[in-house]
Amino acid sequence: MRKIETLEMVNISKSFQGKFANQGINLKINSGEILGLLGENGAGKTTLMNILYGLYQPDSGEIKINGKNVRITSPIDSIQQGIGMVHQHFMLIQNHSVIENIALGYYKTPFFFPKIRIHEKVVEFSRKFSFAIEPYKKVWQLSAGEQQRVEIIKALLNGADLLILDEPTSVLTPQEIKELFRILNDMKNEGHMIILISHKLDEIMDICDRVTVLQKGKIAGHADTAGMDKKSLARMMIGRDVLFNVNREPLPKGEQVLKVSNLHVLGDKGISAVKDVSFDVFANEIFGIAGVAGNGQKELAEAITGIRPVRSGTVFAGLKNITNMSPRKIYDHGVSHVPEERIKFGIAPGLFLYDNAILKQHHLKKFSRKMFLEYGRIKNHTRDLVDSYNVAAHSIEVQIRNLSGGNIQKLILGREISEKPSLLVASHPTYGLDVGATEYLREQLLKRRREGGAVLLFSEDLDEIFELCDRIAVMFQGEFTGILDSSDSEKLSDIGLMMAGSVRY
Ligand SMILES: Nc1ncnc2c1ncn2[C@@H]1O[C@H](COP(=O)(O)OP(=O)(O)OP(=O)(O)O)[C@@H](O)[C@H]1O
Ligand SMILES: [Mg+2]
Repeated sequence: MRKIETLEMVNISKSFQGKFANQGINLKINSGEILGLLGENGAGKTTLMNILYGLYQPDSGEIKINGKNVRITSPIDSIQQGIGMVHQHFMLIQNHSVIENIALGYYKTPFFFPKIRIHEKVVEFSRKFSFAIEPYKKVWQLSAGEQQRVEIIKALLNGADLLILDEPTSVLTPQEIKELFRILNDMKNEGHMIILISHKLDEIMDICDRVTVLQKGKIAGHADTAGMDKKSLARMMIGRDVLFNVNREPLPKGEQVLKVSNLHVLGDKGISAVKDVSFDVFANEIFGIAGVAGNGQKELAEAITGIRPVRSGTVFAGLKNITNMSPRKIYDHGVSHVPEERIKFGIAPGLFLYDNAILKQHHLKKFSRKMFLEYGRIKNHTRDLVDSYNVAAHSIEVQIRNLSGGNIQKLILGREISEKPSLLVASHPTYGLDVGATEYLREQLLKRRREGGAVLLFSEDLDEIFELCDRIAVMFQGEFTGILDSSDSEKLSDIGLMMAGSVRY
């Protein structure tokens, strides 16, 4: 029997340090519906869903299931009510198998033969929704898409009628997104309800029946997707029109700023991840690296910026050999980095915003005198960054971990671009950014290009790559299947085949 036919959040408010994150929110969802939850970075989406899942307590307001008030004071309560949540950052234990992870999150784990009994359940659900999942694999051996399926199974096993997904597609490949959406549609047809948070308006239009839009902690509106298009959604979210296309004017190539020769790099599992890659990047250029995630892009970016050792081959920044230098030295030679694993490499989560704003720059003259940091200047610099990148934060004296996902990203981007690096290595810089922030960021990258900087852009979003890049390399299984000029439309039409390794230039 279904536990939830309708769920309502009534007049929910929540504030942190006296500032509203959610204010008077009303929201309703029925069985068999997919509801999109939209809003700018920092609008309060994650907070609202954390309240529904019992991670936060609202200051006021009610949650009603089938018309009756319920009290949800912890995730155990919400699971028992039939609510499941897949978080933006997965919470699986890497060294445990799929079954073990599911057992840990299963509130009815049997005392006798737990693995066998859970295995039966996993097989039953995998069959029902045609999930491809291998129960005895360790989590670290799984792709992002597979890990997400484990999280979904975990929620379903616990009897979730309502599944909440917080930005579920930002780490998935296009094929995995298709697969996820198929699963969500099957669930919907089974009578489940789904709340989906995403900044990708095409996806929202594609899969959601209705949307609820938040703006600065309040409801900006509700709408049926059938009557909306991408433009009107964007306008509802940020209150103005958004340019979905930027203008890249032709520029002559400047001097060489990066030269990578015969690079070999190992991946986490000790297997060759980058194989004999050579290319160069020039000033006034945005050089794109396209490809399906997991084909060596991450390892390539990490090797260039010093986070991962180079096995053989060389990396030159200008005339300087930076191969295997420390990240800080490489930074001093003019190479900035917006890493893929932001929380791990991009910030110090427990430090204040202003510490994070100068993470690799604290030794620069303008921020320190003799042995002492110049906090006045550091704070002014932080305020400038927060203003120009529109970082939504209550104050610069909060721990950066309390910022919303997209606002952490904006601060890192501002920090890395503000020192005007000769080369910016940017891995998926627009992941998690709302449409307005995406537009701003793309303009900033083009501005760096105009000013004589270079950008090495890793992205899976082909529209983004085509729009921004002068040249495009396609990566497949650790190798380049070609480097194309963005004006070469004939060859570019083969980019899908190059990404699959079946065409090389
Ligand atoms: N634990 C906390 N302490 C202090 N402030 C917080 C905390 N959690 C959230 N906030 C603040 O609440 C506001 C809403 O954040 P939330 O994470 O809900 O935004 P979001 O809509 O999910 O944004 P994004 O699209 O960037 O993920 C932000 O200003 C954030 O800084
Ligand atoms: Mg969020």
